[in-house]
Amino acid sequence: MTPVSPDPAPIGLGIAGLGMAGTVMVQAAAAHKGYVLRAAADPHAAPRTAFARDFNASVYDDIGALCADPAVEVVYIATPHQFHALHAILAAEHGKHIILEKPMALSLADCDAIIAAVERHNVRLIVGHTHSFDPQIHVMRLLISSGALGRLGMIHTFNYTNFLYRPRRPEELDTAQGGGILFNQVPHQVDMVRLLAGGLARSVRAQTTALDPPRPTEGSCAALLQFENGVAATLVYSGYDYFDSDEWHFNISERGLPKSLDHGVARRALLKTPDEARARTEAFAYGSGKADAPSHQPHFGITIATCEKSELRATADGLMQYDQFGAHEIKIERGPGMPGRREVLDEMGRVLRLGTRATHDGRWAKATLEVALAIQQSAAEGQEIALRHQVPVVDDR
Ligand SMILES: NC(=O)c1ccc[n+]([C@@H]2O[C@H](COP(=O)([O-])OP(=O)(O)OC[C@H]3O[C@@H](n4cnc5c(N)ncnc54)[C@H](O)[C@@H]3O)[C@@H](O)[C@H]2O)c1
Repeated sequence: MTPVSPDPAPIGLGIAGLGMAGTVMVQAAAAHKGYVLRAAADPHAAPRTAFARDFNASVYDDIGALCADPAVEVVYIATPHQFHALHAILAAEHGKHIILEKPMALSLADCDAIIAAVERHNVRLIVGHTHSFDPQIHVMRLLISSGALGRLGMIHTFNYTNFLYRPRRPEELDTAQGGGILFNQVPHQVDMVRLLAGGLARSVRAQTTALDPPRPTEGSCAALLQFENGVAATLVYSGYDYFDSDEWHFNISERGLPKSLDHGVARRALLKTPDEARARTEAFAYGSGKADAPSHQPHFGITIATCEKSELRATADGLMQYDQFGAHEIKIERGPGMPGRREVLDEMGRVLRLGTRATHDGRWAKATLEVALAIQQSAAEGQEIALRHQVPVVDDR
């Protein structure tokens, strides 16, 4: 770690893409003391107008103009993921630090191009949000890596959602263009288990399914990851809008809000949506609705880590630790703002103002994408796939 003088100046943030992810990050940044929202870019006028009104900030219809704005120190890129490489390289060329949404890109070659641009222009890159930033995953990691619980043996994570039946643009249902769960949902699980297990996954064996011909992309996945250190992790995901695993997570939603379960509601709503792509854009654009502040921690399904001396489970407000003396709750302070996204902003803040090394940097995110691509390859070929680009966890604090 390079010692640097702490710079108290807030970080000027520019948002590229005022859709669903952009809206949540705007909310997180507005509540974060270390950041000031300076600008945003989106080709659609309505979210631009709403953002300019709410923050008295500059708005652009072109991401190039956002990247050229001298008030912007960090660009958060939440454009559709087929643009991630193009937009991240553009931001780096303008000397901007980058927070890039997951997945980092759609190919390892594009990840390499982003990493090269970031290094060439001497800017910093964090890839997030993924649910590995969730406070429970962080505390689980601290407990596991402290050694106090003995050896980590395995991790089990599963999530059943309505992902495939939310309104979608056509490319979101085409795996070749980054559609389906492998690029959108499974990377959260991969990032979480890599963080907990130390990062160095050795191989993947997986099976995926595409059960609905009108939505011809992967909607479910079962994968086994084996790590260099002997840890095994199982990842199960289903986005078919039947079972909802939040039923087993205290009826709390992914973002940490109370949830009333309504199985099949997304499928039923789609039947009444004549123009799905338009509904997708309008429903999630910045300013189209009020985003409630979470009352619990965020989560991504159910995650359990098995160690020699106890098992840990992420819960709505922290962790449960199960051992020979019973079940013990470990509460985690929710803190101000938006847990999960707040940690993304914190990590970039520490990198820029304290000179720490990022945990979720380009090479980390490339390794996570490698696993997602290997899941796809394993399912297609029916065999175990060896991984070659894995990197260990670097603790940034
Ligand atoms: N971390 C998470 O939990 C999470 C959640 C949702 C989305 N995401 C990620 O965020 C990204 C965006 O997903 P989304 O669901 O917000 O999509 P979205 O369609 O809701 O939003 C994308 C926005 O980008 C805008 N856009 C398109 N081209 C642009 C350009 N050239 N310049 C500026 N803006 C442009 C669109 O108009 C739209 O407003 C995806 O990569 C997705 O994987 C992450």
